[in-house]
Amino acid sequence: MCIVCGWINAIRTWNADLHENADLVRVRPLPYYLISEMKLAHKIRKLAGPLTYRRAWRRVRRSFSPLPLEPLRAKIDLKRLREIQQRYTDSSEGFAKYTDVDRYLRVNRERVQDLKLHRSTRKRVLDLGCGGGFFLFILKKLGHSVLGLDVGHIDLYTELVELFDVPRVLWTISAFESLPDLGQKFDWITAFSVRFNLYQQSKRSWGPAEWDFLLRDLERHLAPGGKIFLELDPPDYQASELHDFFVTRGATVERERIFFEKGLRFPSVSYATFGSKDSELASVAEADNHELHG
Ligand SMILES: C[S@@+](CC[C@H](N)C(=O)[O-])C[C@H]1O[C@@H](n2cnc3c(N)ncnc32)[C@H](O)[C@@H]1O
Repeated sequence: MCIVCGWINAIRTWNADLHENADLVRVRPLPYYLISEMKLAHKIRKLAGPLTYRRAWRRVRRSFSPLPLEPLRAKIDLKRLREIQQRYTDSSEGFAKYTDVDRYLRVNRERVQDLKLHRSTRKRVLDLGCGGGFFLFILKKLGHSVLGLDVGHIDLYTELVELFDVPRVLWTISAFESLPDLGQKFDWITAFSVRFNLYQQSKRSWGPAEWDFLLRDLERHLAPGGKIFLELDPPDYQASELHDFFVTRGATVERERIFFEKGLRFPSVSYATFGSKDSELASVAEADNHELHG
């Protein structure tokens, strides 16, 4: 997208918000006055709030610092890609959409741009739950050193990772279990559209105790000055206990975007070895409380 188009899109976003607010500013019969005022306050908070601004600003920044797809596409073995696409056209599990390489390259280009990895010196990047490897493929072509980690149970992802020649470790991330030795430290650890935080049986999502364990484990794999970026799914990022938890660990949290830009921070209170998950949860909450409120 050209710079001007990027600006126009950003301005459109702001205009759409302003337009909604304009409706609310109109004089309304008195009984609705208070309600309208509350709505207006809400809208203004939304407008002036950091979320709308940050989203629009990211869009602008991408247009200032474009990352053309054509040179990336040119590196793909198109004959092999066509074969894969043909085999999954009628996939009953809905995998066909993942063979739309252009679409997923665009999605992942934005991720690369937003993390400014297209303008960075060579980094070692580990992507947890790497799926088809689109994100790492782009990074690899930009000169970074990459490693994916995934369960590897989806054949299409395996075929895509091979097509992209992205190295991958097969591993199932489980609550309260350490990752394997990956043979190196990483400058970045990322995870997009995170799914590993779901208990398969109960479908319950991880809480602070599970995340605390993983983050401590990830720190072992981080090089000094390393960063972690997680992108959660809606039910998880809407959990306010998780929001507070990630903040105490040093993240900036913007809805689903959890960014440990300056590494991790752990509470000074020590964690004992716990007998059960419940007591573990309680203790993490206590430690968090200590961190938040002193
Ligand atoms: C929704 S896909 C996202 C793929 C990729 N991160 C993206 O955003 O395009 C979720 C990925 O997480 C992987 N995954 C799910 N549970 C996992 C686990 N317990 N350990 C490792 N990977 C897991 C799946 O195999 C799948 O590739």
